[in-house]
Amino acid sequence: MGEQTRTRAALTDDESTAWALHGTLPYTLPVDEIVALNTPKADLHTPRTYAYRDWSFEVPPGVFMPGETSRMIHDRLYDGTIPVGGRSYAAMGVGLGVEAVVAGLRGAREIHAMDVDPESVRATTGAYERIVGERPGTRFRPRVSDLFGSVPDGSEFDVVTFNPPAVREAVSEDPVVVRNVCAGIGVVREFFDQVVQRNLLASDGEIYLIVSNTSELRNIVAYAIGAGFVPEVVHHQTWDTDNAQTFLFKLRQSATV
Ligand SMILES: C[S@@+](CC[C@H](N)C(=O)[O-])C[C@H]1O[C@@H](n2cnc3c(N)ncnc32)[C@H](O)[C@@H]1O
Repeated sequence: MGEQTRTRAALTDDESTAWALHGTLPYTLPVDEIVALNTPKADLHTPRTYAYRDWSFEVPPGVFMPGETSRMIHDRLYDGTIPVGGRSYAAMGVGLGVEAVVAGLRGAREIHAMDVDPESVRATTGAYERIVGERPGTRFRPRVSDLFGSVPDGSEFDVVTFNPPAVREAVSEDPVVVRNVCAGIGVVREFFDQVVQRNLLASDGEIYLIVSNTSELRNIVAYAIGAGFVPEVVHHQTWDTDNAQTFLFKLRQSATV
């Protein structure tokens, strides 16, 4: 039996499923296409406004303006495809806070709204207090946090969402653009490492991660599989106007981890 055959035979069912999915994923787009797709169209340093459903938001300077990928998560929290009712929810890189607002209205038990940027956490807190407010059975926990750095040991989440700034090319040297858009694969690797090393995901918990082929999509998914996660595609978006493809993955930890 050759080396490759032995390796394949040693894969668990979860790993086989995961690597089969990985094999179907597209490669990262060429540099010029990534730059054209991700160069910020509006100045991130100015105040802006944003509307989602019936709600309007002031977007302070430096805070990410939600886009189509953001809405793919917000809509699925809203319609229950991402189930948060009665569960402990961590919104990683929460930005303006729309996902925290929707989770509050959907009756999450705890909402841990985290961002490395204090202004984003302030904007999230303001929006949450204004639109959701105090609700019995729901606790709102805003935190300025570099990934899970400020989360107390022993914390456990049922649902985690992350729309990471994982674009591969540095579309700007502005640190605000890098933090919001193009920090690259490293932030996602570190995210998975922290979840695993600190046991932050409940045994039946799920991570919802949104990634496009403007990022190192295949390497990100390979890293997650190597860290013991099993990905599933919840949504695959393509556009007529360009070659971008966006995937919303649901990842659970393999039973063997
Ligand atoms: C693409 S934006 C997404 C914002 C929001 N979740 C949305 O979908 O509209 C990425 C967010 O991650 C935050 N971020 C970047 N690096 C981070 C880190 N190391 N820890 C926590 N948040 C981070 C940014 O400040 C930004 O708010």
